[in-house]
Amino acid sequence: MTRVFSGVKPTGHLTLGNYLGAMRQWATVDQYRADALFCIVDLHALTVDHDPARVRRLSRQAATLLLASGLDPERCTVFVQSHVDEHARLSYLLECVATDGEMRRMIQYKEKAARERRHGSVRLSLLTYPVLMAADILAYGTDEVPVGNDQTQHVELARDLAVRFNQRYGHTFVVPRATNPVVAARVMNLQDPASKMGKSDDSGPGIVYLLDEPDVVRKKVMRAVTDSGSEVVYDRESRPGLANLLEILAACTGGDPEKLAGAYDGYGTLKRDTADAVIEVLRPLRERHQELCADPGYVDGVLREGAGRARGMARPRVDSAYRAIGLLPAPEAEAVALDAAR
Ligand code: TYM
Repeated sequence: MTRVFSGVKPTGHLTLGNYLGAMRQWATVDQYRADALFCIVDLHALTVDHDPARVRRLSRQAATLLLASGLDPERCTVFVQSHVDEHARLSYLLECVATDGEMRRMIQYKEKAARERRHGSVRLSLLTYPVLMAADILAYGTDEVPVGNDQTQHVELARDLAVRFNQRYGHTFVVPRATNPVVAARVMNLQDPASKMGKSDDSGPGIVYLLDEPDVVRKKVMRAVTDSGSEVVYDRESRPGLANLLEILAACTGGDPEKLAGAYDGYGTLKRDTADAVIEVLRPLRERHQELCADPGYVDGVLREGAGRARGMARPRVDSAYRAIGLLPAPEAEAVALDAAR
């Protein structure tokens, strides 16, 4: 069975971009067709200036939203990265396979490092972040990584590291590939269609959060920046604001952005329909989130069980990577292996 792994980083409130670019595919397709793991990647949230209490709060909220979006713990594994030591264990080995040049070429590193540098220094973990992400993926023998297209370069790195490790030390890792949704693989900021709608940005009015009230969603969509010109056409290059709205509408209604463009003769009705469609897509998610918040014990239980399952899947592969790269097996691991063989 295909193994799927993906994750979300608790650095801000989850957005419509996270949902349309990744989470919706996980809940509606991946968990039914694959052996799937979905992870709240909290260690990644420590790569930039952070408030510990906020990271804890956002991690719990992300877990609750993943379940609210429809992930069923009977069908897939939902867990928190820091609960499974194998991610950090494998990350170090992969740092011994990756090069510093590869890290410095990562587009997200360049963008985020420039931003962080303005406020002071850049954490070393921001540079090595993609290696930890590769460890997340490779520890599970992942075949497919469903993500928005901002993560494609990181998944490419995971592929390169898997191939390099296998060539040097013997076949250990499955070589994964990224999958993207057909529309809305990159939802843009409503106020700045040249930038991605990102949860860590400060520009609230351009970002639709999954827990925004319907009237807030409506206001944000109605105030979206559109381009000069009044004709409704789908052209990402010359009309990025309009193209973004058409893609959001298409993703929410199951339509095609180009065809939808032909159905409108003004921005006003397009914005109104887009706002309605987004509100309808988010409604069940908000309702289910509220129910789950009333039962935090349930969410804790799902995460506990998820971590146990994930550990069991990752441990043997990470242990083999430790042996393959030249490290002596830990005495207790050897004893466990011998016991198991008896
Ligand atoms: P993160 O937390 O930024 O985003 C989670 C998922 O949402 C997608 N996404 C978007 N898709 C379309 N439009 C947008 N505006 C948008 N914003 C976010 C992302 O592509 C992602 O799929 N590095 C990852 C987390 C991670 C991970 C992993 C993912 C860590 N380890 C292993 C997959 C596998 C990240 O920061 O995602």
